[in-house]
Amino acid sequence: MPQQLTIALSKGRIFEETLPLLAAAGIVPSEAPENSRKLIIPTNHPNIRLVIVRASDVPTYVQYGAADLGIAGKDVLIEHGGEGLCQPLDLNIAHQPLDLQIAKCRMMVAVPQGFDYAAASQPGCRLRIATKYPNIAAEHFAAKGVHVDIIKLYGSMELAPLVGLSDCIVDLVSTGNTLKANNLEAVEHIANISSRLIVNKAALKTKYALLNPIIEAFAGAIPS
Ligand code: ATP
Ligand code: PRP
Repeated sequence: MPQQLTIALSKGRIFEETLPLLAAAGIVPSEAPENSRKLIIPTNHPNIRLVIVRASDVPTYVQYGAADLGIAGKDVLIEHGGEGLCQPLDLNIAHQPLDLQIAKCRMMVAVPQGFDYAAASQPGCRLRIATKYPNIAAEHFAAKGVHVDIIKLYGSMELAPLVGLSDCIVDLVSTGNTLKANNLEAVEHIANISSRLIVNKAALKTKYALLNPIIEAFAGAIPS
């Protein structure tokens, strides 16, 4: 029986932006998750399938070997911690993981327009932060010597400071349109975010012959 390969992806921008990379590896999904309620999507290869999971669940599926590889944002990977995962290296940049250059955005601190963030974020000050990224936020403010109360949210972070739930947010910004529409402004850059390929540590050894051509095809098809 041939070995089976399972790739974990999330719906939406990651799936859409991964399609050209899959195509470069000769993998074509049989349908798009947006048009289907199916969570397991076959491909043109009888032994390769996709599983569609929440973006923040991709590392968990790969960690436990329920998927052999997956694509996840750096934001999600930092929050997850990376246990049981390996990230193929970029052969062109020494010691750097392969950056797929998709779903690019920035992790930022944002506040209501006019809020005096410089004064409120001095060492020793205390801030209330609403975020989906408690580990990233805690580490960022600890490095600044600012005390924080972190309120974990699962989406629509921009609402929190508008209704008094928090002083500021730590969230992803791309065009800046969501901040602008809610009278918020970005005041601090925390990290540049894009997506990474993650591979189950055991699968990298036991399924190397199947995985390696896919990793190489992805690496060769990264948008410049
Ligand atoms: P979940 O379903 O777990 O709540 P999510 O809603 O954040 O996750 P997506 O919106 O599909 O899932 O985002 C997937 C990834 O895309 C994020 O982890 C991040 O790396 C990146 N991303 C998020 N927002 C943007 C954006 N506005 N522009 C570009 N990339 C983004
Ligand atoms: C992300 C992020 C911001 C928005 C920023 O949300 O959480 O709300 O994108 O993008 P912009 O700067 O281009 O406006 P997303 O679209 O993923 O929605 P969700 O997190 O609520 O799923």
